[in-house]
Amino acid sequence: MVKQDREPGKTARLRRQLLEWYARNRRDLPWRRSPDPYAIWVAEIMLQQTRVAVVVERYQAFLARFPTLVSLALAPEEDVLALWSGLGYYRRARMLHKAAQFVANQHQGNLPASAAELRTLPGIGAYTAAAIASIAHGEVVPVVDGNVERVLCRLEGWEFGSRAGGATLKRRIEELAAQLVDPAQPGEFNQALMELGATVCLPRNPQCLVCPVAPDCKTQGEHKTAPRPRMLSREVAHALSVRTGRQPGQANREVLLEQRAASLTVMPGLWELPALGDTAVPEDQLRMTVRHAIMQVNYYVRIRTVFEDDVEAMTVAGGERRWVPLGEAAGVALTGLARKVLTRAHLLSGAALDAIAPQTEDDVV
Ligand code: ADE
Repeated sequence: MVKQDREPGKTARLRRQLLEWYARNRRDLPWRRSPDPYAIWVAEIMLQQTRVAVVVERYQAFLARFPTLVSLALAPEEDVLALWSGLGYYRRARMLHKAAQFVANQHQGNLPASAAELRTLPGIGAYTAAAIASIAHGEVVPVVDGNVERVLCRLEGWEFGSRAGGATLKRRIEELAAQLVDPAQPGEFNQALMELGATVCLPRNPQCLVCPVAPDCKTQGEHKTAPRPRMLSREVAHALSVRTGRQPGQANREVLLEQRAASLTVMPGLWELPALGDTAVPEDQLRMTVRHAIMQVNYYVRIRTVFEDDVEAMTVAGGERRWVPLGEAAGVALTGLARKVLTRAHLLSGAALDAIAPQTEDDVV
């Protein structure tokens, strides 16, 4: 164990400066308005790999559809994935769903309160457990996410982002976070530290002039962080095929969707537009181009209008295909890209959609 001795006065000052700053500058985010541990849990899972702006759009629709842990546990997985659409990293949604079912069955629907008990649940690690326990229940446990790691390393002048000494550094960070967390307001303190990392102590452009703890910071913006990994580029093309449905009536158009194989590691079981064999799309058939980023890859996507009779010949055979009525497509577990394309083509409808449609071309999900 690496021992760190901090002067009590210095710790008290840092807590006060940080909490005062947070009280004045905290973003008004939907999950900060509720003390419900379930709602906090959902937010923390969504926030783990997705930008705040995207989570804000999806969070309220998710909670409107699944307002309680039990309602989530009782829902079919298909519905959970549909509401997760656009957030990416769908394994998180499956794990959240499974954990909700576990709590419903084993804990009478009550999420355990302590971080130690929370960690025994499937899919809840140290970070999520500490976030829920400190924010919802005031347990004095530190929360260490990537932002907190960066803030604390800069404060102490510890080399950050190098692989050397990774485990030791991580332990030192955790020990420091445990010393700093304010026993009087652990949830507020943890959120303040995360907020500082997210809005002020930025990876490449730290805003030291407005930082409340700059006087105690050993690096003051000189600290290096690892460069952002280079994005790869891929060109892909998908078919947008819409036909008049077989049911009589007004809104009876249907779109062809294909289900990704359950064995795939990326987005298994989700529904997408069939892939075209040829990514070169003639100008007059080009419905739209979309940029879509998934992890380290920028996809440059061409969407081609394809008539029903040509679909078979022009697309690459994948999973099961289904003609889905346009009125029902919003409720299907679509990939983020499929949802983005159908939204832009004005083919999606439904109340939940307003809350979950991506807003910009550059959504990284
Ligand atoms: N990042 C993830 N969860 C957060 C929270 N509760 N407050 C601030 N930033 C966060």
